[in-house]
Amino acid sequence: MIHVEELSVSYGAVKALRNVTFSAPTGRITAVLGSNGAGKTTLLRTISGLVKPSSGTIHCDKTALVGMATEDIARFGLGHVPEGRGVIAEFTIEENLRLGVLASQVSAAEGLERQFELFPVLGERRKQYASTLSGGERQMLAMARALIGRPSFLLLDEPSLGLAPLVTAEMMRTISSLCLSENLTVILVEQNAKSALRIAHDAVVLHLGSVIASGTAESVASDSDLRRYYLGLVQ
Ligand SMILES: Nc1ncnc2c1ncn2[C@@H]1O[C@H](COP(=O)(O)OP(=O)(O)OP(=O)(O)O)[C@@H](O)[C@H]1O
Ligand SMILES: [Mg+2]
Repeated sequence: MIHVEELSVSYGAVKALRNVTFSAPTGRITAVLGSNGAGKTTLLRTISGLVKPSSGTIHCDKTALVGMATEDIARFGLGHVPEGRGVIAEFTIEENLRLGVLASQVSAAEGLERQFELFPVLGERRKQYASTLSGGERQMLAMARALIGRPSFLLLDEPSLGLAPLVTAEMMRTISSLCLSENLTVILVEQNAKSALRIAHDAVVLHLGSVIASGTAESVASDSDLRRYYLGLVQ
């Protein structure tokens, strides 16, 4: 389980997160939803140790993450697919994956082989430059890179961004099956509430840095005020 308690983050005078508290249960997908500037990326970057909170705690099971170095958090077993995917276009698929090997404790052979089993399309094209991949394939590459170290916890920042609806639906199915097969505890950040709520078990809604709702995905999806005012979903 990932448990975030009373987490606050400021960038100078900007309060990006205000006393955020929620839990992401083990082996489940927790969607973190909210519009532009809600604080979603800041939340993931703080969990990964890239941003220091002004107050609050973050635990992965019994391990306290605040104060740990980013690379130690990654080695501990937390994968992070950043906003924009962080794939290096001038590198091949294999070279991008080798970056994931560097941040892990697995051997290159073992790490790459396992990802090519999970994502056969990447194996077939291992020597191809990432610049030649479609948006959906780039997202798979970013996920494969994050999974190389066999993390227990996975943070995904807007995986559907820029993808066509059919590709988004396929991506969501992939996330759902990875969660099951790899027994991952997933935090799925999305502005695309409709797609995320289809696969999420639980959901948290952020607005201007505060949690305004949380609960099962069904309860959030069926709240008409949340749908209309915060999730951009028509009735
Ligand atoms: N490095 C930074 N320096 C200053 N302010 C920042 C920085 N990063 C984010 N912010 C501000 O913090 C707030 C939360 O930003 P954040 O990127 O976490 O939101 P978000 O929910 O991910 O938005 P989006 O859906 O557009 O990606 C915004 O007001 C943003 O302008
Ligand atoms: Mg963001």
